[in-house]
Amino acid sequence: MATRFGILTGGGDCPGLNAAIRALVRRADQDNVTTFGFRNGWQGVLDLEAEQLTTASTRGLLHRGGTVLGTSRVDPYRERNGVRRIHEALEIHRLDGFVVIGGEGTLSAAARLHADEGIPVVGIPKTIDNDVANTELTIGFLTAVATATEAVDRLHSTAESHNRVMVLEVMGRHAGWIATFAGMAGGADAILIPEVPFDIEAVGRHLKHRAGVGRDFSIVVVAEGAEPVPDTMAMPVHPTDEFGRPVLGGIGHTIAREIERRTGFPARVTQLGHVQRGGSPVPMDRTIATRMGVAAAELAVADEWGKMTAYQSSLVIPVDLEEVAGQHKGVPESLFRVAEVFFG
Ligand code: F6P
Repeated sequence: MATRFGILTGGGDCPGLNAAIRALVRRADQDNVTTFGFRNGWQGVLDLEAEQLTTASTRGLLHRGGTVLGTSRVDPYRERNGVRRIHEALEIHRLDGFVVIGGEGTLSAAARLHADEGIPVVGIPKTIDNDVANTELTIGFLTAVATATEAVDRLHSTAESHNRVMVLEVMGRHAGWIATFAGMAGGADAILIPEVPFDIEAVGRHLKHRAGVGRDFSIVVVAEGAEPVPDTMAMPVHPTDEFGRPVLGGIGHTIAREIERRTGFPARVTQLGHVQRGGSPVPMDRTIATRMGVAAAELAVADEWGKMTAYQSSLVIPVDLEEVAGQHKGVPESLFRVAEVFFG
């Protein structure tokens, strides 16, 4: 049985991280297991920046957005002596392992650390993008959907007043979960997602058809990672961040310009950006985070490493971290077909 474990949050933040931290600590405390919170994801492990967490120190966190531990996109495999420094952190803090709360990137590194380096790790999936494999939901996704849906609702009334096309750009690097859910919930007239390359000519025709039958305004929701059918439209080249990932954002403007050019309808753009990642988690994110925090603490205490807590069929269950690594869960075609029914 484990007696001490570390906790860290890695990758982009999202609502519900603090609820998971609180649950991990509370459940561990019940078994007199000590928890340490590492600052800023793997960076804090490499720099030995940690402090003991207690039930008292994690009170009042349930509803708070962000992460009190801080986060970063630091990948130990890209840092000098990264793996060795993690082993040292385990030894110095006398830890049995880590609970890592992260998205696909952080969890893939965690899976590799466990499988290849023998570092004991349990994962908890979080990301507003909801693209982690083997779990139906990730912490933060439903809050982002609520924020994006409210934006669609608000855009509806102003679109209608001005007879405009409103393009709403939401996050979703590899997957269009936010766009599909918010678009369906808000009644979007077109949804563009990375999983389904779009034909901008067909989008224009569709908006003209709507106008032809008296629907003088339209809402188009586009995921930041959406891509056109090859060779149909010029796309801007994205700069890359310090981790070599393209910095997305701005596709909404390209789409709006193309729509204006092809239809003659005035178009306006709203780029929702990091608003989707901020603020208080919706009740379902608080409960999923709480359930996953408790489940992950129980796995760690029982020395069952190499697992991730997954949400499947309304239950939180352990799955192998290796089954998650290096994969992205996209929007299934059947779901997108349902959204399409309402594009008329
Ligand atoms: O965490 C996922 C995500 O929100 C993506 O949807 C988005 O592309 C990316 O993070 C933005 O990252 P950053 O906050 O580093 O700009």
